[in-house]
Amino acid sequence: GAVAVILAHPAGNNAPPSFTLTTAQPNIPVMGGGSAHHTWIKGLLDKGPLTLRVTTNQYVNPMGTNVIGIRHAVGDPDGTKAPIVMVGAHIDSVLGAPGAHDDASGNGVSLEIARVLSQYPLDKELRIGGFGGEEGGLLGAKAYVNTLTAAERARFVGEWQMDMVGTPYEPARLWALTPNGQSNHVVQEAYNAGARAGFDGLRNCRLGQSDHQAFFDAGIPSSLFIWLDYRPPTPPAVCGPTGGTYVTEPQYHRPTDTMDNISPERLQITLDVVGGAVAHNALNAVTVSA
Ligand code: PHE
Ligand code: ZN
Ligand code: ZN
Ligand code: ZN
Repeated sequence: GAVAVILAHPAGNNAPPSFTLTTAQPNIPVMGGGSAHHTWIKGLLDKGPLTLRVTTNQYVNPMGTNVIGIRHAVGDPDGTKAPIVMVGAHIDSVLGAPGAHDDASGNGVSLEIARVLSQYPLDKELRIGGFGGEEGGLLGAKAYVNTLTAAERARFVGEWQMDMVGTPYEPARLWALTPNGQSNHVVQEAYNAGARAGFDGLRNCRLGQSDHQAFFDAGIPSSLFIWLDYRPPTPPAVCGPTGGTYVTEPQYHRPTDTMDNISPERLQITLDVVGGAVAHNALNAVTVSA
């Protein structure tokens, strides 16, 4: 089914100024590659400010299909030198579940980040990952990481993964989960962006179980951003290799994971936190007036 993800920035919010612009510029080569997927994505980005439409798939394809958008940095037209900033989400869902929350929500925020950043020159390379086959065992992300040369891996600043970022389920909170339970600079940048946007509810603990695991395994700093009723080990309330437990929302992997199951407010917070972190990284050399 098709779901509409509307991301309207609240007035008076003190989020990074890069997320308050409303003028979408057409014909900026945000996505490279030339496939029908890319034409479709670019069409979305050109539609106008703050409106995205994300179509969810229902399949468990053993290989899946990755849709990767790449925008080169200024001064690196061939894309061979610049540090790489990547955001990711998975584009498959389990059979029988429309997947609005899991994980059209993550793709909606990814595309909004791409659209907003399309209005700026970038001093780092931006990659938008739509990974297939996540539900079958992170198949698309593992395959993608395997395609990276050693030189390319070394250019990665980090990967910000978003999986299930739109649930209205009350007990859920925004977590930055890493496979080893350690904070890293991907997490830290998100904390900083949240603080700039007036959000101080981000927590860090331990979990794999989404595409960030494939990047972690390749030595690339990564984190999963997820709204989840996650229960860290207590005591001590210090995250580490023992991890914790979690309770998923009622609509998780069910036919009822539809647009009714999406909270625009939580999408917005995720956008401020993850988008703010990515913008901070990718726009370092660009002057944005406060
Ligand atoms: N990989 C899981 C999924 O897509 C995401 C998840 C992570 C679910 C952690 C629950 C807990 O279904
Ligand atoms: Zn493509
Ligand atoms: Zn799932
Ligand atoms: Zn998922």
